[in-house]
Amino acid sequence: MNSGQDWSDYWLKEGVSGEVFVNQQGHKPPELIEYWNGIFQQQPDGSSILDIASGAGSIYADLPEHQHYLHGTDISIEALKLQRTRIKGISVTASSADKLPFPSNQFDLIVSQFGIEYAGTAAFLEAVRVLAPGGRMVLLCHYRNGYIDSRIAPQLTGARIALETGFTDKAAELINARLSGTRNERFQRAKQAFIDCERKLAACLDKRSEGIHVHLYQGFKKMYENYLNYEEEDIRSWLSNVQVEIQTSVGRLSAMDKATMTEAEIATICQALLQAGCQKATFESFITSRHELPFAWSLSAVK
Ligand SMILES: C[S@@+](CC[C@H](N)C(=O)[O-])C[C@H]1O[C@@H](n2cnc3c(N)ncnc32)[C@H](O)[C@@H]1O
Repeated sequence: MNSGQDWSDYWLKEGVSGEVFVNQQGHKPPELIEYWNGIFQQQPDGSSILDIASGAGSIYADLPEHQHYLHGTDISIEALKLQRTRIKGISVTASSADKLPFPSNQFDLIVSQFGIEYAGTAAFLEAVRVLAPGGRMVLLCHYRNGYIDSRIAPQLTGARIALETGFTDKAAELINARLSGTRNERFQRAKQAFIDCERKLAACLDKRSEGIHVHLYQGFKKMYENYLNYEEEDIRSWLSNVQVEIQTSVGRLSAMDKATMTEAEIATICQALLQAGCQKATFESFITSRHELPFAWSLSAVK
């Protein structure tokens, strides 16, 4: 999940519900809305503001009336299309965050929410370049062992195990072999091979499990147990669709995992911002009332 096309596939499929912080009912934590509103209220009217790796426009979506000039940039054209239909008056530019097509010293405020860190350290330095002298940069970044990571890491492990064990191929062979009868050698071999990989996948499930591997494990179990109610072709086609979803999930979750930062890593980014010309660069944990683990690193810098 490194190219703009991969991310565009993601945004086309998920729409605005693809935002990291939104729950299944489409709600964001109120602390998040308050956080960004607080930042924007401190800006003088007429500020030029850039959201880097803006996705579908989560940061701007809940702003009250304002007099600022809003810009969004993202590697995905589909994300920007969603953003343009959602945020009145915004101007958008497709680009990778480590190579922004803007002149130096242009923006009064730069923001990003689980975005800039996907493009690595060079993107933080590029943000300093386009920030105006005296301008401010405020970022919420993925937090290693925080709330989001605690949900994502088991999903990534499960999806990787489903891929590595070849679960869907073995499940399809079990279905094919079953057609030839349950007493022959082919079926016994297919059953044993399937049981071995099923055990490995079952070892990553617990009561709170979520993710594509859970869908695969439970879905196939249900079909196999109710075998007579399904057409074999439907089971095979379901398995091959889930296989594609697993590959997509591994790509997306690996990108998130790679972007997630430890305290030492965010401290190193702050040092790099100071060396690149910021007068001040600090970070702290971003906490919400409903979650025990921190949600994000909140990084604030002034050029
Ligand atoms: C987890 S989403 C967050 C989007 C949005 N900021 C939000 O809060 O909903 C990460 C975003 O980073 C974008 N992205 C990934 N790699 C990028 C890169 N190298 N340059 C710019 N944007 C990138 C993706 O297209 C995606 O929209």
